[in-house]
Amino acid sequence: MKTIIIYTTKYGCTRSVAKRLQAMLGGETQLADANGTVPSLEPYDAVILGGSVYIGHVQKALTTFIDRHLPELLDKKTGLFLCAGVTDPEVQKQELQNAFAPELLEHAVAKDILGYGFDFQKMNWIERLMVGAMRGNRKNESVFFEQNILQFIHKLQTAPHPMPAGKTRI
Ligand SMILES: Cc1cc2nc3c(=O)[nH]c(=O)nc-3n(C[C@H](O)[C@H](O)[C@H](O)COP(=O)(O)O)c2cc1C
Repeated sequence: MKTIIIYTTKYGCTRSVAKRLQAMLGGETQLADANGTVPSLEPYDAVILGGSVYIGHVQKALTTFIDRHLPELLDKKTGLFLCAGVTDPEVQKQELQNAFAPELLEHAVAKDILGYGFDFQKMNWIERLMVGAMRGNRKNESVFFEQNILQFIHKLQTAPHPMPAGKTRI
């Protein structure tokens, strides 16, 4: 399955998760930062989109990319993921809904929060103050949700490929 993982990141957690997915999916998987050059989606069977959440919002470069390519994305097998620090499942669900267009969420075969990372050395002083107060400490942390990652890969590998727009399976 030829796959491209398109991601946005501020401090690198989403890139690390994207690289983990790439390693698990194997050979024919490319990575692209949505802030850089993203190749044509045409040759790919599957597209994974991932970003991270800051004050409830995912990076604008990711939402702009999705807005520009929505019809193409709806013809591909699609997985959606976030890196996000909140642990409340209801808030996580809301963050996924805020980050991705409703048609894309409906279409995606896998969608989940796959980890989070806090690197206080990389944050600016306001972020350090805010996140430190919110978490009650200033410890660096990098967490992959291994179970979610395994399920995400499994769903992506086993789901049937979507039919091209206007066609139905018989
Ligand atoms: C200033 C700041 C604000 C954040 N706001 C949120 C938030 O609203 N919701 C959330 O789930 N996580 C929040 N986080 C946690 C990030 O989503 C998390 O650290 C993520 O792993 C960052 O990924 P990145 O390094 O790929 O950008 C925040 C982190 C920082 C530093």
